[in-house]
Amino acid sequence: MSDARPLIELDDLVVQYRVGAGIRPGSARRFNAVDRVTLRVRPGEVFGLVGESGCGKTTLGRAILRIVDPASGVIRFDGQDITRVAQSELRRLRRDTQMIFQDPYGSLNPRMSVERIVGEPIRTHETTNRATIRRRVGEVLEAVGIDPARMGDFPHQFSGGQRQRIGIARAMAIRPRFIVCDEATSALDVSVQAQIINLLDDLRRDFGLTYLMISHDLGSLRQLCDRIGVMYLGRLVEVASVERIFDAPRHPYTRSLLSAMPIPDPRVERARKRIVLSGDVPSPLAAPTGCCFHTRCWLRQEMGQPEICRTDTPELAERGGEGRVACHFADEEPATDDVSAPSLS
Ligand SMILES: Nc1ncnc2c1ncn2[C@@H]1O[C@H](COP(=O)(O)OP(=O)(O)OP(=O)(O)O)[C@@H](O)[C@H]1O
Ligand SMILES: [Mg+2]
Repeated sequence: MSDARPLIELDDLVVQYRVGAGIRPGSARRFNAVDRVTLRVRPGEVFGLVGESGCGKTTLGRAILRIVDPASGVIRFDGQDITRVAQSELRRLRRDTQMIFQDPYGSLNPRMSVERIVGEPIRTHETTNRATIRRRVGEVLEAVGIDPARMGDFPHQFSGGQRQRIGIARAMAIRPRFIVCDEATSALDVSVQAQIINLLDDLRRDFGLTYLMISHDLGSLRQLCDRIGVMYLGRLVEVASVERIFDAPRHPYTRSLLSAMPIPDPRVERARKRIVLSGDVPSPLAAPTGCCFHTRCWLRQEMGQPEICRTDTPELAERGGEGRVACHFADEEPATDDVSAPSLS
């Protein structure tokens, strides 16, 4: 699989937003919601993106689908540079890529029947023949575990989990190659979450899909993902295989995320120490100099506050280990082992 051409290639991708335009003329400021992200996603891979609220996960997903325009950098989809392709020419990309959202109710039009909701992308991209659309809608509903006999029903007549299945059916209807799942299971209760994750996994295998799975919760990414990227203030701070992220995380931010995850074994849970980050996530409008994480970094404190963290931005690089990490001291152990993240095996 590693020899295959990447399906998604991002080089130094920057996405900016303007804020404050409405207050005073000339008062608008720009900030980097996605800050120089470089990443490859292979065909068939499930890549997880994790990080606190506001760190830029959704923006990155939307940029790859060209729903928002990048300020600089390069986006390639299946080898084709789509960075500057005009919206009007994105038809092909719109067929190949889809997004599944967190809120399965808000993202389904309550006044449309399931047949119309799921049939809409088929009508837009493939055919207006009603019988064909009906047949295709029936097939895809079947694939996601919804009784096709219910295609005349409306979203409110389904449970939350069923509505998420309908959202997935809509995304699958035109057989895309790449799907961004943005917190697709966050609003669902645990048992339904597990069913949806299994469904996404089955669909991936049956249809050869590639996913970008976005979540603020590392635990929910564990089962499905091959690799995970950890984001902080618009930047990727660590990228590694799912095993490495859980068993040997290297970035101090990744280690703090892991330490916040509950562990089912009460003995292990009692014995371990949490890494509680001090302070809030800085405003992206006033992003720290040097390492974006240095203002909250427990490892830097343990290391005696080295200046380099404040002055030099660590690039995301291999740094002598597996995966890539953006930290000057990623593999240094702090003086006490109190704060190190536990092994979760
Ligand atoms: N349309 C917009 N205009 C201006 N700023 C925006 C816009 N959308 C998002 N932002 C800002 O960009 C940053 C990244 O937002 P984004 O929605 O990508 O974060 P996220 O990681 O998906 O967060 P969450 O986990 O809460 O969904 C945040 O600071 C957010 O306030
Ligand atoms: Mg989001």
